[in-house]
Amino acid sequence: MNENQKSSNVVWHQGEVSRADKEKRNGHKGAVLWFTGLSGSGKSTLSHAVEHKLFQMGAHTTVLDGDNVRHGLCGDLGFSDVARRENIRRVGEVSKLFVDAGVIVLTAFISPFKEDRDVVRKLHQGDDFIEVYCAASLEACETRDVKGLYQRARKGEIKDFTGISSPYEAPEQAEIVIDTGSLSLDACVEEVIAYLQNKGMIKVE
Ligand code: ADX
Repeated sequence: MNENQKSSNVVWHQGEVSRADKEKRNGHKGAVLWFTGLSGSGKSTLSHAVEHKLFQMGAHTTVLDGDNVRHGLCGDLGFSDVARRENIRRVGEVSKLFVDAGVIVLTAFISPFKEDRDVVRKLHQGDDFIEVYCAASLEACETRDVKGLYQRARKGEIKDFTGISSPYEAPEQAEIVIDTGSLSLDACVEEVIAYLQNKGMIKVE
């Protein structure tokens, strides 16, 4: 058996409970908040804080976080351009499953390549995909260097490090751009929640 052979003779099985049924019960639409930005730009912190707020508001949520997903689902992937593309492809597909289940899924991945993010955008319908650019500068992220990775990358101990030896392509038309380099966490959370309320995706408290 060729393990790399693509699935064939597989037919989509339509469930009896529709996405609309699930969204009706949940009281909100499914959507993906796709946080992108440099390592240390605040994606994980902000996505978890937004999830906490949404949870308090009664929403059904989950967070997919790069550092966590790379322990399991994407544990076989490194940081070459090809590996990152596969990382984002898998997470994009998982995010679609959650959205189809009527969940608000928050993803926190550097996702440095515009083309890869746009593949995920196209995978989702209409306004289900909300790109959130955590726009902290390289200087700000490197000054913080919470995990000490920038210092190691500068010394050449980590190769293909985003912002140092691997590119980051900033979004040009993200739905939400947040200056995570200088705003407080609370202010950043407010911006995301306000966007969702303005779009009628969650109820105004
Ligand atoms: S992505 O580029 O494929 O989207 P992802 O968000 O999953 O990256 O993982 C990034 C995290 O892995 C960083 O926050 C950092 O902790 C760690 N990491 C380890 N090596 C690298 C590297 N070469 N470049 C960027 N991040 C790295």
